Amino acid sequence: MAASKPVEAPGAGGGPAGLSRWQLALVLGAPILLGAGAVYLWGRRAARRGKGARERKTPEGRASPGPGGEGGSGQPDGPGHEEMSPLGRAQAAKNKGNKYFKAGKYELAIQCYTEAISLCPPEKNLDLSTFYQNRAAAYEQLQKWTEVAQDCTRAVELNPKYVKALFRRAKAHEKLDNKKECLEDVTAVCILEAFQNQQSMLLADKVLKLLGKEKAKEKYKNREPLMPSPQFIKSYFSSFTDDIISQPLLKGEKSDEDKDKEGEASEVKENSGYLRAKQYMEEENYDKIISESTKEIEAKGKYMAEALLLRATFYLLIGNASAAKPDLDQVISMEDANVKLRANALIKRGSMYMQQQQPGLSTQDFNTAADIDPQNADVYHHRGQLKILLDQIEEAVEDFDECIRLRPNSALAQAQKCFALYRQAYTGSNALTVQAAMKGFEDVIKKFPKCAEGYALYAQALTDQQQFGKADEMYDKCIDLEPDNATTYVHKGLLQLQWKQDLDKGLELISKAIEIDNKCDFAYETMGTIEVQRGNLDKAIEMFNKAINLAKSEMEMAHLYSLCDAAYAQTEVAKKYGLKPPTL
Ligand SMILES: *[C@@H]1O[C@H](CO)[C@@H](O)[C@H](O)[C@H]1NC(C)=O
Ligand SMILES: *[C@@H]1O[C@H](CO)[C@@H](O)[C@H](O)[C@H]1NC(C)=O
Repeated sequence: MAASKPVEAPGAGGGPAGLSRWQLALVLGAPILLGAGAVYLWGRRAARRGKGARERKTPEGRASPGPGGEGGSGQPDGPGHEEMSPLGRAQAAKNKGNKYFKAGKYELAIQCYTEAISLCPPEKNLDLSTFYQNRAAAYEQLQKWTEVAQDCTRAVELNPKYVKALFRRAKAHEKLDNKKECLEDVTAVCILEAFQNQQSMLLADKVLKLLGKEKAKEKYKNREPLMPSPQFIKSYFSSFTDDIISQPLLKGEKSDEDKDKEGEASEVKENSGYLRAKQYMEEENYDKIISESTKEIEAKGKYMAEALLLRATFYLLIGNASAAKPDLDQVISMEDANVKLRANALIKRGSMYMQQQQPGLSTQDFNTAADIDPQNADVYHHRGQLKILLDQIEEAVEDFDECIRLRPNSALAQAQKCFALYRQAYTGSNALTVQAAMKGFEDVIKKFPKCAEGYALYAQALTDQQQFGKADEMYDKCIDLEPDNATTYVHKGLLQLQWKQDLDKGLELISKAIEIDNKCDFAYETMGTIEVQRGNLDKAIEMFNKAINLAKSEMEMAHLYSLCDAAYAQTEVAKKYGLKPPTL
C-alpha cells in the first residue's frame, strides 16, 4: 500500500487531515469533499464566508418541478398593465401555461408557451427567454431532451447568464450523454452561483468523474510503462521487512565469481534469471527486472515462486495491475511455496484491490494472509493502513499494536498507530484524547528520531490542529532526514498556502520537489491545483497533463483527468461567457 498515494477510500469523507490526497482536497478543496474538486477549488472560501451556505435553499424554481419564475427580472412591462399589448398577451399565454404545468398537463402547457413565444415582440429578450425556458421545463417533464436542449439554447442566446436555462440544458445534455457540453453548462452555472448550490456542484462532480473515467480507460491501456524513481522504489520495499524478495542476496546465492569481486559493479553471469534480477535490483538497475524474472519463470527454475512475486511487484510498480494479477494469483495458489512469499503476494494483491476500490476483496486477502502467516508483521502493518483508509480506526489500531508486538522496533508502525489514534480522537471531537494523541507523536519522535514518517504524520496532525509553525518545523526535520523525498516538499508547500496564503513560497517548494524528482505526479497535480486558484488555467492544464502521464493507476489517472477537464471547462466558460471565478 505504501507504493502509491493513498487511494480515495469509499466513504472516507471529511475526516481530519487524512493522508496526502484528502488533505489536498481539504486544504484547497471543495466545500463538499467530492474528490474531483477542481471546479470548486476557490469555492470553499466563499462557502466559509457565508456560514451555512451549504444548507442554503436552492434558488427558486430550481428544486420545484415548476418552470420557475421570471428569468428576465426587471422588465418594465409587467403582466396586466397593458392587457392588449402583444407582450401582455404573450404573458397571459405564459401564465396559462404555468397553470397547466402545475396541473401536470405538460402538452397543453407547451402549446401555451409556444403561443407566448409567437406573440412576444422579438425585442423583448428577457421575456422571450423566459418563455423558452418554461417550455423547456415542460419538455423536460416529457423527457424530450433534445427539445429541452434546443429551447434552453434559445433562452441562453437571449439571456446569456440565465442560470436556470443553463442548468436545465446541462441536465438535458447529461441525459443525451453529451458529457462535454454538460460539463461546460454546469461549470457556467457553478460560477454564476458562486459555487453555493449543491445540486449543480453534484452534477459537475458526476460528469467530471464520468469523463475522467472514460478518458483514463482509453489512455491507460495505451500508455508507455513507466518506472517510478529509485527513491520511490526503495521506499516501497522498505515497507516490507518480512518478505524474501527484497532482502539482499545471501552469500551462498551469489556466484563464485561475484563473491570474488564483491563490492565492484560485477557483471552478472548467473544462470538463474531470478538471481540476476536480484543482482540488478541491488544495482538499482530496475528496468531489467521484469525480463530477467520472466526468464526464470519460463525456465521453470528453482526460484519460480520468487520470480513470479518479483515480476508481479514490478508490474505493480510500473502501474500494470492486470499483468501483476495472474502472477500474484499463481504464487498465492502454490501451496508448497514458502509461506512468506504467499503472504507477501496476498498483501500486494490486497493493496491492488484497494487501489481498484474493491475493499471487500482487499480485506479478504489481508485476512487470508494473517491466517496463513500469523507471525508476519507486514500483514498487520499493511492491513492497518487499509483499515485507516476504510475509516475502521479501532481495527487499525489493533493491527498496528500487533505489528509492534511482533516487531517492537518498527518506528513506522508506531507512528501510524499515533496517527490512527489521532484520527479517532479527532473524529470523536474529544479534546483530551486529541491531546493524548499529540503527546503520542512527541513520544514517537523522541524514541525514533530518525524516522521521517513520524515527523511527517505529526506534521499532518499539527496542520490539522492549525499549529502551522510547529508543523513546518516537523517538515523541516523530515527534509533533513530524507532530503531526496519530493513528497515532503509538496506537503510543506501546501502548508505555506494554508498558513500564510503564500502562493509564491508554496510554488517555490513544489518546484523544488519537481527538481528532486521529475516524476513526482503529486507535485504536478498540486501545482496545477494552485494555478487554477491563481486563474492560470492554461498552465494548470499543462501541469495536470504532466501528472496524467505519470499516473500510477487508472483510477488516479481518472482523478487527474477530472481536474484537468474542470480547468478546461473553466477556460471555455471564460471565453464564451466572459465569466471567471475570482482568484486568490
Ligand atoms: C501490461 O502488461 C501486459 C503484458 O506484459 C501488456 O500486454 C499490456 O499492454 C500492459 N498494459 C499496460 C497498461 O501497460
Ligand atoms: C516520503 O515521505 C513520506 C512521508 O512524508 C513517506 O510516506 C513516503 O514513503 C516517502 N517517499 C519516499 C519516496 O521516500
